[in-house]
Amino acid sequence: MKVVSGPASKELAEAVSAQTGYPNVPVVAKVFPDGESYVRLEGNVQGENVAIIQTTCPPAQDGRLFQLSFMADSAKRAGAKKVTAVVPYLAYARQDKMFLSGEGISIETIARMLKAAGIDELLTVNIHSEPTLGQFPFPAKTLSAIPLIADYFVKKGYKGAFALSPDKGAMYIAQQAQTVFGGDAGHLNKTRDRYTGQTVQTAEGLDVEDQTVVILDDIISTGGTIVGAAKILLENGAKHVFCGCVHGLLIGDAEKRILDAGVEEIVGTDSVPGNISKVSLAPLISQALKGAV
Ligand code: R5P
Repeated sequence: MKVVSGPASKELAEAVSAQTGYPNVPVVAKVFPDGESYVRLEGNVQGENVAIIQTTCPPAQDGRLFQLSFMADSAKRAGAKKVTAVVPYLAYARQDKMFLSGEGISIETIARMLKAAGIDELLTVNIHSEPTLGQFPFPAKTLSAIPLIADYFVKKGYKGAFALSPDKGAMYIAQQAQTVFGGDAGHLNKTRDRYTGQTVQTAEGLDVEDQTVVILDDIISTGGTIVGAAKILLENGAKHVFCGCVHGLLIGDAEKRILDAGVEEIVGTDSVPGNISKVSLAPLISQALKGAV
């Protein structure tokens, strides 16, 4: 196998190459004056199984998806046997159903586009809703980075922390962290108005008095969910509040708003490279490419 360093995940791909021993294929990427993307693989992939590592987080998620498609096409034209797309943050995964009439299912369109470009299988991390992958036109799998994130907090001395999911649907995330923390777990309830996007969060029967709580979520976008959750936790007597997320998009002033709400630290992964990406996905992806998870 060879590992192609997608321009959006160059460091992660190099770490995966180092950890797996699979040779790295660098990529030349540029944007033409009219805004169109160009990529060129700088290595021989003839007859190889190829893993292209390319996250598709904002900014420029559309451009990153095009780069991924072009890299897959380049690999296939250069004779690659099989192309696996490793896409830590998969853009458009939240539009996974028709919430309102007149909408499409964006993530299914993206998957069909990737298939047409030459992608044979896909690996992602904590996709918003796993059943979505069943609709893809090729085998697709999601890995969980939650144990790695929980481990980060344990190493900082927070063994026994309360694992909280800000929404019932993501309770499985809190439960994965709970396995590492060895403390209690719980969830808030969140409802969203599909027209305005406004959310309402409530806590029922949650006992976090004097507890160190780690809020765990798949994505932080505007930060509204975490800000609301932190407020409820502190009102309910939590002593310390931290936040761990897989995909820390942190749109606008999300980071400041979360810290201002009393969250002591925000921890994300390199699915979205930035100043909160303190946990690397390289070990998880390396194990998956070696067939170990
Ligand atoms: C939604 O259900 C996700 O799990 C996240 O909670 C959500 O995307 C976070 O968005 P925001 O940061 O804008 O509240």
